Amino acid sequence: MSTALWQRWHLKLPVIQAPMAGGATTPQLISAVSGGGGLGFLAGALLSPEQIRQEAAAIRALGSRPFGINLFVQQEPMPGKAELELALQLLAPWHAELGLAPPVVPERFCQPFERQLQALIEVKPFVASFAFGILDREQLRALKQAGISVIGTATNLAEGLAWAELGADAVCAQGREAGGHRGTFIGEPQQSLRPMLSLVYELAQNLPVPVIAAGGIMNGADMAAAMRHGAQACQLGTAFLRCAESGISPLWKQALAEAKPGDTSLTRAFSGRYARGLANRYMREMEPWQERLPAYPVTNALTGPLRAAAAKAERVELMSLWAGEGVADARELPVSQLLAQLQSEWQAAYR
Ligand SMILES: Cc1cc2nc3c(=O)[nH]c(=O)nc-3n(C[C@H](O)[C@H](O)[C@H](O)COP(=O)(O)O)c2cc1C
Repeated sequence: MSTALWQRWHLKLPVIQAPMAGGATTPQLISAVSGGGGLGFLAGALLSPEQIRQEAAAIRALGSRPFGINLFVQQEPMPGKAELELALQLLAPWHAELGLAPPVVPERFCQPFERQLQALIEVKPFVASFAFGILDREQLRALKQAGISVIGTATNLAEGLAWAELGADAVCAQGREAGGHRGTFIGEPQQSLRPMLSLVYELAQNLPVPVIAAGGIMNGADMAAAMRHGAQACQLGTAFLRCAESGISPLWKQALAEAKPGDTSLTRAFSGRYARGLANRYMREMEPWQERLPAYPVTNALTGPLRAAAAKAERVELMSLWAGEGVADARELPVSQLLAQLQSEWQAAYR
């Protein structure tokens, strides 16, 4: 039997900490995961090229273990006037409720992807992962030449095949349970919601590259199930959100602590791309309009001030509280203890 990806990557256990944009993936979290024998991951998507360099230096200052950096494959969009106007109209009452000036169109909607990628290649993480789109051949070649392994995110078979054909080293299968944004870039997001185990099985059967399982993996038994379905490593996001080293706000952590099974749902209303989080009033009241909001990253940029003000005013009913379906099983532990528990549960599942 060939050696599994996590062993070839010299991890002590098959745990990859998911990149999580929005503050969770501090240098402390990443370094604790990598130092504990998993693979820590910096969420670089919302960072400027300079911030990517600084964060990588901060991670390295805490230790020399390998880590990954993740980006969203995106281009600066050019939304139409009418859709922008509708979005501003829909957001205005929320601004008023928070005492903010009416929403305006920002100068730019996202970080410059090409320059983010350049910064990533310069800092040479062990591995780079990508979501929301696929690289071109030139970009992949530049990563390979720098000695960086590449993971592509897939939410359906077509996306997995596209990444494998391009030459990715592994494909991360994002099941419907996953917290945060859906990575879908081929086909409809609503048609790309297979449960993690069945998506992992399908991709492992059909792709010539290793598959990493993501979505709803909260303990060692979940890891064992994913590996039995063909995964060669597991990517856990929500499981790390309540860790002491995670950088999300105390309010978000508190909401996670109180969450019950079934409390999450998918929404397009915060960012223009479907994402899973704790359901709240903003998500419910915007639901009838969400399909008409401009696509990511436009709506994400437009709701930035509203989300920041809601967090400052401690209004959880208006905040984006990304979390996966397994949220009720997330543990409040330091990373080292969480990794130790995952390891012993995983081994117990094989006994
Ligand atoms: C708060 C949060 C932020 C996320 N941000 C990113 C991101 O920046 N890039 C990315 O590829 N995936 C992101 N994800 C998705 C994860 O990569 C992964 O698919 C997911 O966490 C797995 O499901 P789980 O949360 O049930 O473990 C995020 C997930 C969460 C919960």
